[in-house]
Amino acid sequence: MKVGYYQFRPLFGKIERNLDKVLAALADVEADLIILPELAYTGYYFADRDEACRLSQDVTSSPIIDNLTELCRQRNFYIVSGFAEKYLDKCFNSSVLIGPEGLVHTYRKLHLFSDEKNVFTPGDIPLQVNRIGDVNIGMMVCFDWVFPEVVRTLALQGADIICHPANLVLSFCQDTMITRCLENRVYAVTANRYGTDKRPHGELKFTGKSQIVAPGGVLLKRSPSQRDDLVIMDIDPTASRNKHITALNEVLADRRPEYYL
Ligand code: ACM
Repeated sequence: MKVGYYQFRPLFGKIERNLDKVLAALADVEADLIILPELAYTGYYFADRDEACRLSQDVTSSPIIDNLTELCRQRNFYIVSGFAEKYLDKCFNSSVLIGPEGLVHTYRKLHLFSDEKNVFTPGDIPLQVNRIGDVNIGMMVCFDWVFPEVVRTLALQGADIICHPANLVLSFCQDTMITRCLENRVYAVTANRYGTDKRPHGELKFTGKSQIVAPGGVLLKRSPSQRDDLVIMDIDPTASRNKHITALNEVLADRRPEYYL
C-alpha cells in the first residue's frame, strides 16, 4: 500500500490558494492514502470564534470537499485532511476521510489546544475506525497526541494506520508518536504544516517534520522543518495486526483494565 503526506505552508484565510496548492501538488501522485495537515485550507491562528466560523464550511455544501472528492476519483486514492467544519451555529477543528465515493467520515478534534478553546467547539463524535479496502483507518488531530487514550482506543478498534493532521507548535509530538506506535503496534502518519501565521493578535510558528512511523516505533521518514515535502512510501499495513512485543507479550491482549481506568 502506498501511503504518504504533503507538508506545506497554508496562508491564513486564503482558502482558494491553499486548496489550489494541494490540488496541484497531488495532481499526478500515485498513492492509496495521502494525509494533509490540520486546518489545511484556512490556516490556524483565528482571532475568535466568529472569524473561524466565517472561514469554515459545512461538509454537505463544501467546495473543498467537492474538489478533493473529484481529485480522489481522478487518482483513485483516499485523502485524510484537516478541515475547518461549520455545523449549524458551531465550528469544529475536524479531519475528513474522503475517497472516490465522496466523504467517508468526519472526525472532530476531541482535545483542543490552548486558544482553540475560545474558537472551536470540542469534538462530539466518538473515535471511529473506517475501512478502506482491507485497511482500517483511524483519525486524530494534532494535540490529541498528548492523550494516549486516543491511539489506544483506535488500536483497540483495529486501526492499522493512524492518520494525524497537525499544526504543531510544541516540539514533543514527533518523538511521542514513536512511542504511541511502539505501545500500540500501529502505523502513524503525522502531516504537519510549517511556516508562521502572523496575525494582528500575535503569531505562531509551526514545526514541520512530518513523519511516518511503523509498528514497533520505527521512524520510516521524517521531513525537514521548514519546506514543502511530498512523501509517498510503500508499507505493509497488515504489520499492525501483529501485536507481539515479545514472543509472550501482546500490547493489547496483555492489558489489565480491571486495575486501571
Ligand atoms: C495543535 O493542536 N494544533 C497544537
